[in-house]
Amino acid sequence: MNILSDRINNLAVSQTLAMAALARELKAQGKDIISLSLGEPDFNTPDFIKEAAKKAIDENYSTYTPVDGYVELKEAICRKFKRDNNLEYKPSNIVVSTGAKQSLYNVAQVMLNDGDEVILPAPYWVSYYEIIKLSGGVPVEVPTSVESDFKITPEQLEKAITPKTKMMWFSSPCNPSGSVYNREELTAIGKVLEKHPNIYIVSDEIYEHINFSGTFCSIASIPGMFDRTITVNGVAKAFAMTGWRIGYIGAPEFIAKACTKMQGQVTSGANSIAQRATITAVEANPSVLNDMVKAFKNRRDLVVELAKEIPNFKINVPEGAFYLFPDVSYYFGKTLRGKEIKDATDFSMYLLSEANVATVTGDAFGNPNCIRLSYATSEDLLKEALKRIKEVLI
Ligand SMILES: Cc1ncc(COP(=O)(O)O)c(C=O)c1O
Repeated sequence: MNILSDRINNLAVSQTLAMAALARELKAQGKDIISLSLGEPDFNTPDFIKEAAKKAIDENYSTYTPVDGYVELKEAICRKFKRDNNLEYKPSNIVVSTGAKQSLYNVAQVMLNDGDEVILPAPYWVSYYEIIKLSGGVPVEVPTSVESDFKITPEQLEKAITPKTKMMWFSSPCNPSGSVYNREELTAIGKVLEKHPNIYIVSDEIYEHINFSGTFCSIASIPGMFDRTITVNGVAKAFAMTGWRIGYIGAPEFIAKACTKMQGQVTSGANSIAQRATITAVEANPSVLNDMVKAFKNRRDLVVELAKEIPNFKINVPEGAFYLFPDVSYYFGKTLRGKEIKDATDFSMYLLSEANVATVTGDAFGNPNCIRLSYATSEDLLKEALKRIKEVLI
C-alpha cells in the first residue's frame, strides 16, 4: 500500500522551483551559473512599505486576523480596483490570502467538481494546471504560438467549449509569454462567453503594473463579464514583495464567501504585518513604481535585441511581466556538442550544462516549443547570459 496519497503522488513538482533549486545546487558546487529561471523582481521592497510594516509591529498587530482580511485593507483594495481597473467591488467581494497562489487554490477548490473542464490558453502559469487537477478539474489546453503573440482567438475559445466547461483561467500580462490582451481582444473573448453564461473566468492580473503597452484592461470591466469574473491580484510582483505573501481576489459575493469558508479551515487570515503593509502599497499611486517599470522595460528591450541575434530563436516582443519566451524548436532533433536535443527540456538542460545559464522548459507552461528566460536580473548579467547562450548555439 502506498503510504503517500494518490493526490500527492500525482502532483507534479513546480518546474520553475526545481530549476531554481538545481541552479542553486550547481552554484554551491562552485559553478558560475547565471539563473534566469525565477519569477521574482530583483528589487527591494520600497521603504515606505517597510516603514508601514515596522509601524504595524510597534502597534501590536500580532493577533489572528479576520479570515478574509482586515476591513481597512479590503476597503483599500476596493479603491485600488476602482482607481486602476474601473471595477466597483465592495469589501464583501474581497478575500485577502497568503499570496495570489492561495487565492487561485481557494477558487479552484470552491468552484470545481470532479470532471469540470477548465480552459487554459497555453502557455499558462505553471501552477494553474496542477491546482486545477488537484481540485478535481480537467485542464483543457488551447495552444497558441509565437506567431499569434501567444494569444488565443475567439474562434479557438469557442471550439474548446464543451457542456463540461466550467471556467477559463488566464493571466495578462502573461507569465510566461509577456503578452497583454487589449480591450478589443478581451471584448471579442467576452462576445464568445456571452453565449455561455455558466462559464466563469479567472483573470490573473498580478503583473498589471509591469506593463509596457501603455494600457491595461481587466476583463471584468468588459460589459457582461463583471458578475462571472474572479479578478486575482497581489503585491508580490509590482511591489517586490514576493516573500510577504499577500494576494487577493475581487469576486461575486457568493464566491468570496466560499473562499473565506475554505481559507477559514485551512490557513485562517493572512499575516497581520504583511496585510498592514499592503494597505500602504495598494493605496500608493502606481507612479511610485515608475523607476522599477522603466528598468524592466530597458531590460526587455535589451534581451529582445540580444535574443534577435541568436540564430533560430523565434521571439515575440513581450509587453509586460519580466519574461522572454523564445520558440527554440529549430534545434529539436539536432545534436549540439555531442548532445542530442529532443525537446525544450533537453534544450534548457543543454544551456545549463554548456552555457551555465538556467532557464525553464516551456513544457512546464504547456508550450513544448519554447523556453522561458526571466529578465529580472541586472543588465550586465543579462548581457553575459545571452552571450553565453549564443556561443553554445553556433
Ligand atoms: C501569473 C502568476 N500568478 C500568480 C503568482 C503567484 O503570486 P504570489 O507570489 O502572490 O502567490 C505568480 C508568481 O509567480 C504568477 O506568475
